[in-house]
Amino acid sequence: MSMIKYGLIVFLSWVGPSHAGDALSPMLGKPLSKATIQQRNFTVFPNGQGLPVGQGSVSAGKQVYTSFCLSCHGFEGSGDSAEELAGALHRLTDNPPDKTIGTYWPYATTLFDFIRRSMPMDSPGSLSTQEIYDVTAYLLFLNNIIDHNKIIDHHSLAKIKMPNANGFINQYKNNN
Ligand code: HEC
Repeated sequence: MSMIKYGLIVFLSWVGPSHAGDALSPMLGKPLSKATIQQRNFTVFPNGQGLPVGQGSVSAGKQVYTSFCLSCHGFEGSGDSAEELAGALHRLTDNPPDKTIGTYWPYATTLFDFIRRSMPMDSPGSLSTQEIYDVTAYLLFLNNIIDHNKIIDHHSLAKIKMPNANGFINQYKNNN
């Protein structure tokens, strides 16, 4: 307890305006709480390592998408103020290319990781595990990668073969 108090006092005096150096400090940011650090401290790997236990459906994902994503990403992921997430008209080799989940992303697991880490952009970290699985399923469906009735979970997500899974490797090989 006394350690905590001591830490607090040191902290307060460190950020307090009485220090001469503060005039030069940009005074940006704030220390993250342990809870926040823990909540962001995760990585989902391409093989599914790091995925939380859970599952999601396309139909529930459509609800999540409508509530939390549509305002920026548009109807069925067609794009609005934020970029399109589905419905690519151009292939990667076209000029200009359409870089969507369906044409570009090599791993479905990265989609889960990205959404959990950073979306919705105005309140990252606000979605439940269930909602992230659901909306991931919906986005995979919109990109014609899974069927409407498919349930995804922490085992199956890594097994989904993305259309551009070999794109990065092939490009590397071709250029060298
Ligand atoms: C307030 C606007 C906003 C909302 C709401 C929002 N996004 Fe985004 N999203 C963005 C912006 C802007 C980007 C581009 C960010 C970047 O490239 O770093 C983005 C990027 C993405 C990407 C990466 C696209 C790519 O191919 O690079 C995905 C996937 C995504 N959002 C999913 C979602 C999902 C799922 C939701 C709802 C749960 C959501 N977003 C809600 C603004 C938003």
